[in-house]
Amino acid sequence: EKGNYRHFMEKEIHDQPEGCQRTIAAYVDTLGGRVAVPGDLDFAKLERVQIVACGTSYIAGVIGRYLIEQLADLPVDVEIASEFRYRDPAIRPASLVIAMSQSGETADTLAALRYCTERGMQSAAIVNATESTIAREVDVVWPIHCGPEIGVASTKAFTAQVSVLISIAIAAAKARGRLSEAEEQRLVKVLLEAPRLIAEAIGLEDAIRDIAVEVSKAKDVLYLGRGPMSALALEGALKLKEISYIHAEGYAAGELKHGPIALVDDQTPIIILAPFDAWFEKSASNMSEVMARGGQVVFITDTEGAKHAPAGAKVVVTAPSSDPLISALVMSAPIQLLAYHVAVLKGADVDQPRNLAKSVTVE
Ligand code: F6R
Repeated sequence: EKGNYRHFMEKEIHDQPEGCQRTIAAYVDTLGGRVAVPGDLDFAKLERVQIVACGTSYIAGVIGRYLIEQLADLPVDVEIASEFRYRDPAIRPASLVIAMSQSGETADTLAALRYCTERGMQSAAIVNATESTIAREVDVVWPIHCGPEIGVASTKAFTAQVSVLISIAIAAAKARGRLSEAEEQRLVKVLLEAPRLIAEAIGLEDAIRDIAVEVSKAKDVLYLGRGPMSALALEGALKLKEISYIHAEGYAAGELKHGPIALVDDQTPIIILAPFDAWFEKSASNMSEVMARGGQVVFITDTEGAKHAPAGAKVVVTAPSSDPLISALVMSAPIQLLAYHVAVLKGADVDQPRNLAKSVTVE
């Protein structure tokens, strides 16, 4: 039930601190301060991971790649399932396919998974629906435990998927001898802080509603970020276009000069996602570049980043600072809320956007 909320999507955005807590509790031994990923998969023996997924689940996979490669030194490929399944991809048996799907029924994701398992790959699924077709066909099921998601636009499933991937990245790093016990405990502690920081980020809702008034008048919106924030830029754009019907593009900010900068004018809001991480300086200089061309920048950063941001942004949104391990979780709420409030202002049917279905069981 929606309770006091107008839409399921709004409720599901607000459910995320609790949902995330539930997810993390299933992947972490809280008392011992260690990861405890279910299943008997030996990450030390893997040569590669192939993630297959569609839509928002694909974007969660891209964030997972950053973390798994960085922490575990394990090569990860992430591919849109509808492309993967039809292109005769090269398969190596010592690799793991991870099918990522909230519903567990997405036709293309299922077909991509089968392509891999038929060729001898080990398989895992990160799913919400544990009774689904995809969950039944894999060696290891990694549930996201976020409860049923009713809104067509994925929100709490996305942060739950990312939470599972963070746990997997830590577990893989540990199995591959890349983490001391102290370092594992530190990362687990960081992960356990995520629900509280997500709640703080949701607390920015009033400020974001004000920004939504401006954004709702735009014809086009550009989202930029680097590192995991480049994936979140894709997610911000996807959320906005699917529920508010405003054209939006997400780009890795380094690509700006290679085309999208031509879109910049004083009518186009540019949303830059830039927590104070290893990429911050680069994103900040992209901000200066778009401002020099009249771009109206909404700079979504964190407490530390706000201190270092170049002057001149139209608005600065200051999320709580966090370790880069969890910044994608913390920065999700502002972009979800922005899409939500823009859609509400435009009078769109937020929970049932036109032409979309919650579960895409046909290709
Ligand atoms: C976007 C959205 C879709 C789904 C995609 C995959 O908000 O919800 O892009 O993420 O259709 O669905 P699942 O995860 O069920 O395979």
